[in-house]
This record gives sequence, C-alpha cells and structure tokens, in this order.
Amino acid sequence: MLSTPSLRTSEAATTPTNPASSIMPATVPIHPRIRTLEDYHTAYRRSVEEPDAYWAELAEPFTWRKKWTQVRGGQFSPEGTATWFEGAKLNITENCLDRHLATRGNKLAIIWEPNDPKERHLRLTYRELHQEVCKFANVLHNLGVEKGDRVCLYMPMIPSLAIAVLACARIGAIHSVIFAGFSATAIADRVNDAQATFVVTTDGLNRGAKQIPVKRVVDEALEHCPSVRKVLVIEHLGWPVNMHEGRDVWYHEEAKDAGKSCPAEEMDAEDPLFILYTSGSTGKPKGVVHSTAGYMVWTDYTFRNVFQVEENDVYWCTADIGWVTGHSYLLYGPLLAGATTLMFEGVPTYPDAGRFWQVCDKHSVSVFYTAPTAIRSLMAAPLDNVLSYSLDSLRVLGSVGEPINDEAWYWYFQHVGKERCPVVDTWWQTETGGIMISALAGITPSKPAHAGLPLPGVQPVLLTQEGQEIEGNDQEGYLAIKAPWPGVIRTTYGDHERARQTYFQPYPGYYFTGDGARRDENGLYRIIGRVDDVINVSGHRFGTAEIENAINQNPHVVESAVVGYPHDVKGQGIYAYVICRTGDVDTEADRHHVEASIIETVVAEIGKIARPDKIQIVSGLPKTRSGKIMRRILRKVAEGETSSLGDTTTLLDPAVVDEIISGKK
Ligand code: WT7
Repeated sequence: MLSTPSLRTSEAATTPTNPASSIMPATVPIHPRIRTLEDYHTAYRRSVEEPDAYWAELAEPFTWRKKWTQVRGGQFSPEGTATWFEGAKLNITENCLDRHLATRGNKLAIIWEPNDPKERHLRLTYRELHQEVCKFANVLHNLGVEKGDRVCLYMPMIPSLAIAVLACARIGAIHSVIFAGFSATAIADRVNDAQATFVVTTDGLNRGAKQIPVKRVVDEALEHCPSVRKVLVIEHLGWPVNMHEGRDVWYHEEAKDAGKSCPAEEMDAEDPLFILYTSGSTGKPKGVVHSTAGYMVWTDYTFRNVFQVEENDVYWCTADIGWVTGHSYLLYGPLLAGATTLMFEGVPTYPDAGRFWQVCDKHSVSVFYTAPTAIRSLMAAPLDNVLSYSLDSLRVLGSVGEPINDEAWYWYFQHVGKERCPVVDTWWQTETGGIMISALAGITPSKPAHAGLPLPGVQPVLLTQEGQEIEGNDQEGYLAIKAPWPGVIRTTYGDHERARQTYFQPYPGYYFTGDGARRDENGLYRIIGRVDDVINVSGHRFGTAEIENAINQNPHVVESAVVGYPHDVKGQGIYAYVICRTGDVDTEADRHHVEASIIETVVAEIGKIARPDKIQIVSGLPKTRSGKIMRRILRKVAEGETSSLGDTTTLLDPAVVDEIISGKK
C-alpha cells in the first residue's frame, strides 16, 4: 500500500480514496462507556466514593506487562506527589498499536490530509502504523537513543510526526514536541531545558500558501544546544538542506535496513512519557511532565466518553501535535481507543475558508474537534464557504482551548452541526493531561459558553482568594481540583519546586488551575479566564512576562508591560506598552521603525504566534510606590474601559495614566 521505507510525503501514495472501503466492519466494540445520564451519575459517584476500584476496573482492559500494586498514591500534598498504578509495567505503544492488531489490523489508524487539496492524502492502517513505528524506533535505537533520553521533535503535521512520537514511546525515550511555529531561540530554550540529545525534523514545511525551511531554523537553534548529538531529518518537501557532518542523518537512508519489528521497552507506570512546554506567569516556559500509565488511562477514558466515539467513526481533531490537544486527542486518546484519527497538515483558511468542511465531507468525518479561534476566523468569511458542503457525516462537535463565546457556539451548532450535533466545550489544560470539565456528547447537558459538568474522577471546587471553598450553586471563584485524577501533571522537568509552587502550594490539598470559573444554578461550570498573568491568544498560552522578556531584548526598549485585551478572532490580543530609549522615538517615522523592530524581536525570540497586536510607546508605566506595575490599569486602558480605572492615588506618578489613555491605540 504505502511507500514504506521513509513515508516521504513527496512521493505519491497509491491508496484508495473511499474511506469506507478499508474500514473493517466492527469486530470488537470500543470499550464500554457511559451511555446515559444515569450512567454518568453512577460513574461520578463511584469515582468519588471508591476511586481505587473505579480506576482499577477501567485500567483492566489495557495490556500490562505487570499489574500495579497501588492504584492511587494518596491525596494532593503541597509537594504535589500524586502517583497512579504504581508498580505496574507497560508500554503505551503496545496499547495504542499491538493490542489492536488482532481485531483492527486493517482498520485505518491515521488518515492524513495534506496542506494542498490537490495533493494525495495518505492512509495508514493499524498494521501499517505499527510497522512504521517499529521501523522508526529501530532507527532511533541504531542512532543511540536510549530509554530516558529526551528527543525533541520540530516538525510539520505529517504522518512521520505521529510515527516519531510513538517511536520514542516505543523505546522509552521521552518525547518533547516543539510546535513548528516557534523560533530558533524558543527551540534552543526548550532543547536546553530538556537537555535533549536528539532532534527530529524535516527539510521544510507547508503552512497554507507559505513554505518554511524548518531545518534551517533547527540549525540556527542548535548552535546554542551543546547537548544535541544527532539530528534526524525527514524528507518532506524535497528541499536541499545543509547536513552537518557527524550530526545530521536522513531518515530514509537510516531506515533502509531498519527492521520492521521492535520489541517495546518495558516502562514503569510512573516513568515520564513526555515533556511539553507551556507558558506560566513567569518569563520561562515550563516543561510539563506526564507519566505513562495514568496519562494512558486518562486520555483513553476521556476520549471515549466525551466524544462518544463509535467503531466506524472518523474522528478529526484539528490541533497541532505541538500542543497538548494534539498529544491527547489526535494521537494517544484515539489510538488507545482503536479509533480512526485524521491528521491535517494545513490551515483552516487555505485555499479558502471552506477547507475544514471540504475535508469533513471528503473523509466522512463524524466527530470534529477544533478551537473557538478557528471557528471565529471562519465565521468572518461568507457563509457559502460552509453551506456549500453537506456535512452529513458529522455527529459530534467539540471545542477546546479558550472560552467559546455565544456567537461562535451558535454558528458552530447551527451551520456546521445543522442543529443536529451536540457541542462539547471541553475545559482542560496542558497540566491536566486530558479533558476535565465537559459535556459527554448527547448525554450530559451542553449549554453555550459553559464547559458543563466535571468528568468522573474530577472534583472541581471554587475557592475564595484566601482558599475557602465556596459552597452551593450560582457562585464564582478560583477553580481548583480537590483530588488527584490519573492524568495530572507529575512535575515540571528538572525543577519540581516550580510545579510545587505553581500548582500545589497556593492552596494546600488542591491542584490550582489558574482559571476563574462560575458554577451556574444547575452546577454547570463556565470558565471565565485566567486569574494569573497568562494570556490566551488563539488558544495558545503566553505569560505576559515571557513576551515582555522578548520585547526587552530589543535595543530600543527600556521597559515594557504586556496585557491581553478582547480580540474578535483571537479571543485575546497582545497589547504591549513600551518605554523606549530617549532619542529613539522622536519622530513618527522613528516610531514606525521601532515598532516594526520590536515585532521582529518578538518573532525571533518566541515566534510569529506571539506577535503583539498593538504596541503603544509610552514615556512611563503606572507603578505603585514600591515599583510594582499596576496591570489592572493597563488592562482597562487596553480594553477601552477608561472610565472605570479605580483607585489610582497609590501610583507613584498618576499623570502617566492620562498620557497612556490619550495615546491609546
Ligand atoms: C488554558 C489551558 C486544553 C488544551 C488546550 C489549551 C483555557 C482551555 C477551555 C475551555 C475556557 C479554556 C483555560 C486553561 N481553556 N479550554 N473549554 N473554555 N477556557 O491548553 O495551553 O494548557 O491552556 O486554556 O484558561 O487554563 P493550555
């Protein structure tokens, strides 16, 4: 079927185009799941009253080399030392792949849709995927990758990325995927923090009408990464690249003699599976670490129950594998459940704003999971872009990453789901491993702009700022989680203290989410947004301090303060107040030049995704007498709420506020 040795997507594959033709009839049902509201309540009660028995039952059907000696390792301590299924031995890829071969060997595991609709798509059955993963794992092994090594992946959304991730897991290497929109500096930061010894990348990538020389970005990053010994390069665009002698090797050459079978490394339940960097309220992104068994049980469970996936469904999550949504709900969750998962290389608006819907029709997608920012960008295009597709195959719609506003919710429900498909608004975080609060499609209530009820295993509470639990419904507070669930973050790589301080110490006995939430009169949760200095731009998290650090690298800049403000498409936009060196911004032309230069700096330090939407050059920032920037005021000004600034008398120099208001962009 597939041109096996390298999965070079530049070579045409010769697979049939009708998805139904190679999906096997259902042989075994996907694991039993919650099917009624009553089931949900029973499951929820059990998960609280007898969690050990509940999770042991759910863990039972997996392939274990050795069973656990203890299901849960205690409650949250201020140290944040939750463990799950301790003593067990397993390999997650045996559960994603080998376990399905007998019954789903010929079922499609991955459908890959390229960036350009005129190019051929690719399809991999579970058997083919298993072989490709084994081969890739052998290549990694031959190059010297060992259990526990950190491997960074910087790649486009092509099957090789999925295969590389699973190949790492196969041999017990810890994968750390870096979203392929990050800059060389951002890559270097992550590679160095993880002390990665291997990097996997491609020659280039397609993103809509653009092509990006990925390998060149990696080369630039690696000038500052002494830990990296080898770079494995996958040919995708067929571009010439610079190969560093002794360091860089081509995958297709290494794969020529690699065997098609590879025994899976036996892992401890608590061995780290991956590191994924995410932003916090301090300047430096942190490496969120998930471990093997708990993450496996949690992603499988949440995937099956939230999306109510059936054996013959084609499931599509539009997230990039560079984010946690791609890890848990494009890759691990669906493969653990034996589902068919679609992987898309492109963007929602290329070649036009109908691309998502065209792909849904083409591959008969039945479960579709995307982000509000994508919906909002498509809403802005003429309605014909969606109305010209049938979308008959759709059954369930999902949303993730940021609050979905009413308008976007209704548009999605009406024009995409034709008022027939339940919408699940799934709240979770990189740190939670999987979905925490969400409707179960068609089973528990789905209310616009509300994530809904917690999943079994999740005990959310609302806290006052002082840490008092707020009882009853129709209440608002800081969202925290009371008891460990299997997918909870285990540590931040190389710095457990940071995890402890961020999540477990603020409110001892709880996991602190950093979000504010409201519980409505029926107990449904609505996420209001971050209560810390994290902003959510198009569903991507940035610390304001992280963007400020980047801006401050610019030679014209003396100081900066970044806040979020409401943005029609992105949810939140980035608003930067910047103090520049005297003499650098005297004329209008100087200002334009400096603003452009600041944007360039941010793109180089972090990537295009962190580009400020607005830059306002100011002569001072509102500070308290103790020197603390009053962000509340900056946020209000950015939001245009200048009539309700509150008390400004404690400011060192109240006059700067007037200047800032009059200069607002
Ligand atoms: C933050 C986590 C969840 C995976 C992708 C983002 C916000 C996430 C929702 C939602 C309202 C949401 C929260 C959260 N968020 N989902 N359904 N409704 N807000 O993961 O990058 O770790 O960001 O995204 O503020 O804390 P992440």
